[in-house]
Amino acid sequence: MGETALMSEVLELEDVSVVRGGRALVDQVSWSVKEGERWVILGPNGAGKTTLLNVASSYLFPSKGTATILGERLGKVDVFELRPRIGMAGMAMADKLPKAQTVLQTVLTAAYGMTAGWREDYEDIDEQRARAFLDRLGMSDYLDRKFGTLSEGERKRTLIARALMTDPELLLLDEPAAGLDLGGREDLVRRLGRLARDPIAPSMLMVTHHVEEIAPGFTHVLMIRQGKVLAAGPLELELTSRNLSLCFGLPLVVEQRGDRWTAQGLPLG
Ligand SMILES: Nc1ncnc2c1ncn2[C@@H]1O[C@H](COP(=O)(O)OP(=O)(O)OP(=O)(O)O)[C@@H](O)[C@H]1O
Ligand SMILES: [Mg+2]
Repeated sequence: MGETALMSEVLELEDVSVVRGGRALVDQVSWSVKEGERWVILGPNGAGKTTLLNVASSYLFPSKGTATILGERLGKVDVFELRPRIGMAGMAMADKLPKAQTVLQTVLTAAYGMTAGWREDYEDIDEQRARAFLDRLGMSDYLDRKFGTLSEGERKRTLIARALMTDPELLLLDEPAAGLDLGGREDLVRRLGRLARDPIAPSMLMVTHHVEEIAPGFTHVLMIRQGKVLAAGPLELELTSRNLSLCFGLPLVVEQRGDRWTAQGLPLG
């Protein structure tokens, strides 16, 4: 492995640790994501999920170990060439985007790797793509709305459209359904499911707090606790009551109903 990462490898972490203030936020994580897999990342608050996504997005370098993203080893590749191949939709991005820009502009600026600046010479083709992605996320009625006036759910859908704009090979989603109402969550799960099952859609890694948010089409789960991998593998094998209980530190029962998942605490007594 390592130097000779196969083309079919989307992400290869070997013994990756991220240490801050003497503490390992990510602790000796080895994890391999292959083409065609769609991963859900589960773990309690503070487990290191966002930190791990930041490594996968090439914005954070491991303190120890090696990270190979889309066949390129971090530390040996020009990240400015790598980053356009990765789409990231998380709320940290939302804070960097100009609130006065319209929704359409917000998505369009991604095509040029910028967070700000409206240019007059965007290609027609880019605008068509931006409109198509926004349509796919159900945002066609909001094209001229200012980004800063959007509700949380609308903002999240805009960020996903934006992340798709560069035609990424890897799409990273950090809690895309957090803060959405039940209808908004179900709508997003349906849209993510469509994306996850689209054979030409990018590889996807999604952090979530709730198994109810796992869209059909997702194939694998990574569970982390205190920076360490607790389970990694196909959903059907690894998303068990036992693993989930160990991950969250309380007795939980997980069930699969059709192509969706639910989890709840064991009743007392
Ligand atoms: N730069 C930093 N310096 C020190 N500690 C940090 C730094 N960044 C994050 N942490 C800590 O690292 C731990 C993991 O953070 P991270 O954001 O990855 O967790 P998370 O799993 O995404 O949690 P959540 O579910 O709450 O989003 C947390 O305890 C956090 O306080
Ligand atoms: Mg987080």
